[in-house]
Amino acid sequence: MRQTDADLKLNTGALMPMIGLGTWKSAPNQAGEAVLRAISEYGYRHIDCAAIYRNEKEIGKAFKNIFENKIRRREDIFITSKLWNTEHRKSDVRKACEATLADLNLKYLDLYLMHWGVAIPPHDATPENPLERFTEQKDANGFLITEKVSIRETWEAMEELIKASLVKAIGVSNFTAPMLIDILSYAKIKPAINQVELHAYLQQSELLEFCKHNDIVMTAYSPLGSPGNFKEKGFPILIEDSAVKEIARSHNKSPAQILIRWGIQRKTVIIPKSVTPERIKENIDVFDFELSEEEMKIIAGLNRNLRFVNPYPWWKIPYYN
Ligand SMILES: NC(=O)c1ccc[n+]([C@@H]2O[C@H](COP(=O)([O-])OP(=O)(O)OC[C@H]3O[C@@H](n4cnc5c(N)ncnc54)[C@H](OP(=O)(O)O)[C@@H]3O)[C@@H](O)[C@H]2O)c1
Repeated sequence: MRQTDADLKLNTGALMPMIGLGTWKSAPNQAGEAVLRAISEYGYRHIDCAAIYRNEKEIGKAFKNIFENKIRRREDIFITSKLWNTEHRKSDVRKACEATLADLNLKYLDLYLMHWGVAIPPHDATPENPLERFTEQKDANGFLITEKVSIRETWEAMEELIKASLVKAIGVSNFTAPMLIDILSYAKIKPAINQVELHAYLQQSELLEFCKHNDIVMTAYSPLGSPGNFKEKGFPILIEDSAVKEIARSHNKSPAQILIRWGIQRKTVIIPKSVTPERIKENIDVFDFELSEEEMKIIAGLNRNLRFVNPYPWWKIPYYN
């Protein structure tokens, strides 16, 4: 399979490259370079950004270089960003999208996602540090302070972004089936994507089936089990799983490549993050082999419904219970 054959068709009719570069925790002085290399050297055609990652300005410099110097054409690169929880009010959604576009040096996004289905009030910010606005506030008992803004209000404001030609598609992230059922009851424009944590230890098969049934493509985040964030916290390390390693050996590939290939064969978009050149290259080098039915079954057997990105410890919101 060639890389370009691995694009998935969204319900908007647009094609989305199945492998994208993740940028969460891509540090200053690394994020822009990673994006530049991914696109110009390793053939990535899809970058996953978010305002809350606080690195969009740096990534925007890389985009400027890439598009102004005609390293690639804008229309050949699929760029996603996400609306942060402090920007859910109807009056804020467009401003937030325009701020992201300015930071990324873009005229439009290919996809804009509601990052979480939770609205929170903005924090005080200064012109020197506008991103302070994103800071979460807790009450005396440690509960996240939320705001009375419905998902419907936010979604309808996001629909306006399409009409204003600021974004080509809109979608959601971290949405459960009941949240999707609700949004589908009033959406004039259906979500094109639901971006959720998805990997061999959290396979989300039922949600995937439900999204496919509703013509919503699923994007798999933390597809390698986010080892950089959770290794020290005593979680099992997916890329060190012995079954994954065994399959990797038999194909002369790395465990990461097996996990990414698994995502592709399950028809999900998959957005591994790396700032390490060899890994960025490795993570897209997955189009010259195929996992057998037997190997897909072995990986299916690894599911343990283990969630790494769980907001309960941060927010005291049992989001997935
Ligand atoms: N919508 C949401 O709420 C949400 C939440 C989480 C993540 N995301 C998106 O999904 C992307 C991916 O998720 P993630 O960053 O949590 O985790 P991930 O992609 O599963 O793992 C990234 C980690 O794995 C390392 N790594 C990358 N390639 C590797 C390889 N070939 N071999 C060994 N280690 C490798 C990276 O290290 P180095 O960078 O040091 O190479 C980094 O520490 C994010 O960057 C973000 O764009 C979205």
